[in-house]
Amino acid sequence: MKNILVTGGAGFIGSNYINYILNERDDYFIVNLDKLTYAGNLENLKSSQANKNYHFIKGDIANSDLVNFIFEKFNIKYVVNFAAESHVDRSISGSEIFYRTNVIGTNILLETARKFEVEKFLQISTDEVYGSLGKEGLFSENTPLSPNSPYASSKAAADMMALAFHHTFGMPVVVTRCSNNYGPFQFPEKLIPLMILNSLNNKKLPIYGDGLNVRDWIYVIDHNKAINLVLEKGNAGEVYNIGASNEMKNIEIVKLILKYLNKPENLIQYVKDRPGHDRRYAIDSTKIKNELGWMPEFSFEKAIEKTIDWYLQNKNWWERIINGEYQKYYETQYKF
Ligand code: NAD
Ligand code: DAU
Repeated sequence: MKNILVTGGAGFIGSNYINYILNERDDYFIVNLDKLTYAGNLENLKSSQANKNYHFIKGDIANSDLVNFIFEKFNIKYVVNFAAESHVDRSISGSEIFYRTNVIGTNILLETARKFEVEKFLQISTDEVYGSLGKEGLFSENTPLSPNSPYASSKAAADMMALAFHHTFGMPVVVTRCSNNYGPFQFPEKLIPLMILNSLNNKKLPIYGDGLNVRDWIYVIDHNKAINLVLEKGNAGEVYNIGASNEMKNIEIVKLILKYLNKPENLIQYVKDRPGHDRRYAIDSTKIKNELGWMPEFSFEKAIEKTIDWYLQNKNWWERIINGEYQKYYETQYKF
């Protein structure tokens, strides 16, 4: 059995990863440590809950005693660290928790993993650590880190800390830097689910700035497959970029969603830009393709429709969210 600690496994990417991997592997035992912040939702894991190879623990990665207890009790040999505060806008309204979880929390995980001599520590990082691109070029693993938001800077700190633990102590650390994900169970503060739900509810669709900022989109299952490949075959001390070469302007995505849902474009409302808004992200994933044989399998055209359909079919999931404390966040963030 491979005993794996997955942190943040009740969030969007982590829950998709656990559901996916428990279906694929019967020699993985997964302990999911999640604080269940506003973004954590155990409903995402309904299909894994009863699996004998799955165990959930509610708790904070920054709680050193708890993390020690988990490593000892479950004989943890692998770590996949998804746990994070993940939303850029929230890091602009209040950054402290971003550093506590993303930096201090990662430090506690790394120190504990070092003590228990884990076989692999996978730090889930992001392409946002590279900063912003102009019209041309792609982020490669050698692009210097230049994070611009409090969120991105906290992820860059964690990412570099993980690599420093490899360099200094020889720890088997690997880092992945992925582009923007979309798919089922994504919390509706993020662009795609926000625009789907607002369209369905005939609410205004707030587009920051001129709507021409570019993101490079990947379906969450393609990301999950890459993560597992890196966990199993990635070389210690290496960084792997993950992206599906699918650059889109925000306005293009919003129009596509409106069209699919047969809603009018006059729902679009341009609003004040995000402070420090990165203009363009685009990822070069040649390394993971050439060295580990990964390829994205989902086309954006099909997977975005699949995602919209998922939100159409899972109204109970998102209604509970948008009727809860999310309302307060939404009013403060958008003021309409
Ligand atoms: P998310 O916000 O949906 O989920 C984060 C999860 O972490 C939640 O379940 C939350 O309860 C948990 N968590 C937060 N603080 C915690 C703490 N102190 N201790 C334990 N659990 C805690 O995030 P996501 O979009 O699923 O992102 C997962 C990871 O992937 C993050 O590290 C993020 O930086 C990275 N990432 C995200 C994207 C993306 O497009 N969403 C792209 C690249 C990388
Ligand atoms: O690139 C990877 C990153 O992608 C991850 O590390 C982050 O965790 C994840 O949140 C995401 O960050 P972004 O800031 O790119 O994603 P977000 O969905 O917040 O915004 C995508 C784009 O849409 C961005 O240009 C801002 C814009 N936007 C977003 C919102 C929420 C709007 O125009 N209006 C909105 O209301």
